[in-house]
Amino acid sequence: MTSRVDVQPDQPVKQTRHRGVAGEHIPVLLHETMGALIGNPSGVYVDATFGRGGHCKALLEQLAADARVIALDRDPSAVAAAKALSAGDTRFNIVHNSFSQIGAVLEAELTTASVDGILMDIGVSSPQLDDPARGFSFRTEGPLDMRMDPTCGPSAAEWLNTAAEADIAEVLFVHGEERHARRIAREIVAQRPLHTTTELADVVASLAPTRKAPYKKHPATKTFQAVRIYINGENEELASGLEQSFGCLKLGGRLAVISFHSLEDRHVKQTFRAWSQPPALPRNLPIRADKIAVKGRLVGGAIKAQAKELTLNPRARSAVLRVIERVA
Ligand SMILES: C[S@@+](CC[C@H](N)C(=O)[O-])C[C@H]1O[C@@H](n2cnc3c(N)ncnc32)[C@H](O)[C@@H]1O
Repeated sequence: MTSRVDVQPDQPVKQTRHRGVAGEHIPVLLHETMGALIGNPSGVYVDATFGRGGHCKALLEQLAADARVIALDRDPSAVAAAKALSAGDTRFNIVHNSFSQIGAVLEAELTTASVDGILMDIGVSSPQLDDPARGFSFRTEGPLDMRMDPTCGPSAAEWLNTAAEADIAEVLFVHGEERHARRIAREIVAQRPLHTTTELADVVASLAPTRKAPYKKHPATKTFQAVRIYINGENEELASGLEQSFGCLKLGGRLAVISFHSLEDRHVKQTFRAWSQPPALPRNLPIRADKIAVKGRLVGGAIKAQAKELTLNPRARSAVLRVIERVA
């Protein structure tokens, strides 16, 4: 069992190597997340992004026999991996759904409308990235898919091969902050149809100025990020998932969010700030801003992986954990 703490970014934490269910995904910021999330060992918790269950297993290990954990994932392969865990632990069950539906999922699964803690570890998992057949990575050749849930929506190839050039450019600029969005979009349209990850990576790489090589990052990094975010509706998912999750917390319950790139983290930070700070009021109103009740209390600031974790898991380098507690 553990007692909940207000983890500070510079607070030393015990780190151990902790692998996911299939031994493929190392959960990031594990101790910081568990420490901040678990207040009531007999409570009801939600892992909104099961992945390979690294966080979920640690959660179950630290909770009491009468606790309950519901997990969600939109990826059928994550749900399949979770079935083994649910077969062996009656406190746990998994639902195949997106966290933008978390309100409806919890209403269907639970008799109580509010929960003690919710974790959202957003982005892609290592098994998704490492499996060429999923089409997330420009490093290995595979079908240009990129859907977290391959059972619905258009694949990256279907979209890129039919979208208007201006729409592609906008996606690359908005979701990838890609400075060369227009040139890349023009070249994609000129070279299509594109079928594989390598074809897309090569189109982008062919436009990169050769004098600057070797690159710190592959020139297609931003393009792949942008297309993935668009194909999976990640921004809309995040906005809705945050709003609904916070609404599902009981008073004193906590929402912990781990994000992996600056655009996502900015969204989480701004949303948490809006819930935890009084609104700016016109100067002449006879009410002081600090007398207005807020909905949330920030639990520490941005928490990042320490050097020891980074040596074990370099993918943790861009992870940022933010936690908020519901107070009204
Ligand atoms: C970084 S991994 C989570 C890893 C997990 N914490 C672990 O320890 O194994 C992110 C997972 O979230 C899932 N995911 C991403 N967006 C989602 C969404 N909107 N709804 C549900 N699951 C989502 C992905 O399919 C992926 O399996």
